[in-house]
Amino acid sequence: MDFLRSRQTISSRDMTQKQYRIAVIPGDGTGPEVIAEGLKVLEALSARFGFKPVFEHYDLGAGRYKRTGETLPDEIFESIKACDAIYLGAIGDPEVPPGILEKGILLRLRFELDQYINLRPVKLYPGVETPLKDKGPDDIDFVVIRENTEGLYAGAGGIIRRGTPHEIAVQESVSTRMGVERCVRYAFEECRSRSRAKKLTLCGKTNVLTYTFDLWERTFNEVAEEYPDIETNYVHVDALCMWMIKNPEWFDVIVTENMFGDIITDLGAIIQGGMGVTAGANINPEGVSMFEPIGGSAPKYTGQNVINPIGAISAAQLMLEALGEADAAGIIEKAVMKVLKDDLKGVGAGQMGYSTSEVGDLVVEFVKRAG
Ligand code: IPM
Ligand code: MN
Repeated sequence: MDFLRSRQTISSRDMTQKQYRIAVIPGDGTGPEVIAEGLKVLEALSARFGFKPVFEHYDLGAGRYKRTGETLPDEIFESIKACDAIYLGAIGDPEVPPGILEKGILLRLRFELDQYINLRPVKLYPGVETPLKDKGPDDIDFVVIRENTEGLYAGAGGIIRRGTPHEIAVQESVSTRMGVERCVRYAFEECRSRSRAKKLTLCGKTNVLTYTFDLWERTFNEVAEEYPDIETNYVHVDALCMWMIKNPEWFDVIVTENMFGDIITDLGAIIQGGMGVTAGANINPEGVSMFEPIGGSAPKYTGQNVINPIGAISAAQLMLEALGEADAAGIIEKAVMKVLKDDLKGVGAGQMGYSTSEVGDLVVEFVKRAG
């Protein structure tokens, strides 16, 4: 009888346990090494919280391309599309000409899944060294919302008379009212719901890109009227690069177009300690989102167990937040903060005082003990 009852309890718990199908794309270079650590952390969390991640592994990247000539076959795309979220390591390989894997896999997923927001937190954790003199964790804590489907990334343009002295290359930047407005709205909402200072900065170039940023600025100002609780300002992208270094504490949430967002988030990565600790979310609020460390494939460190997996682990945190598992996500952030502050000697590859997998183990240990 007791045996029966306990079986029933277990099976009813199983029924209510939330399952998430996660498409895992380890990808190129150090991608597989850092993703393995993130998966360890997710497993450890699922043992403690009432959810179960079901990992579907996809072999995409340079290896597949070199073997078969394929980047992202349609049937694999359809299968990824049916998952709840995507967990991506890195895409890019020195032996494959630039653009093939990036456009064929990463950008295709962003565009075709309409992940129109690229959210990248820039947060300096205690114990992590920043190259900025006299700046600390209180000064460096903002979020960049990068439009992720338009601008120069839209791929509009072409080359005519290629290879001749009369060659012409055109790369057009595309901005739509719909695309700009949904991004700006998301930024206002993000600012309202999670920011400290409730301050939103539009980053642009109204003095030169007079068409693109005419549209952006008008849209921004119109939407701002619906958010009287949020303070807004406008900064040119070149000046913003300067202020991010000199006065990063001025920023709370920054919203910008695709290419500017790409560039300023690398600058953001460096002021928060380096590429190894940065994570980003490619979000479709109504669809399938994708989470990735920003560090790239780091070919020169591949296979050595020296790369920092913290960025990938923080990407798993962003994924859990988006899936509605805020408590579990919060534990990851606590664990990351503890390990960065107390354990790691540095955050750069080979400078942590621990191997990639040992850093993952430290986070897992904390997760198991916490709470
Ligand atoms: C990034 C990367 C990509 C981008 C590349 C790899 C296409 O730099 O995620 O920031 O430019 O968006
Ligand atoms: Mn980039």
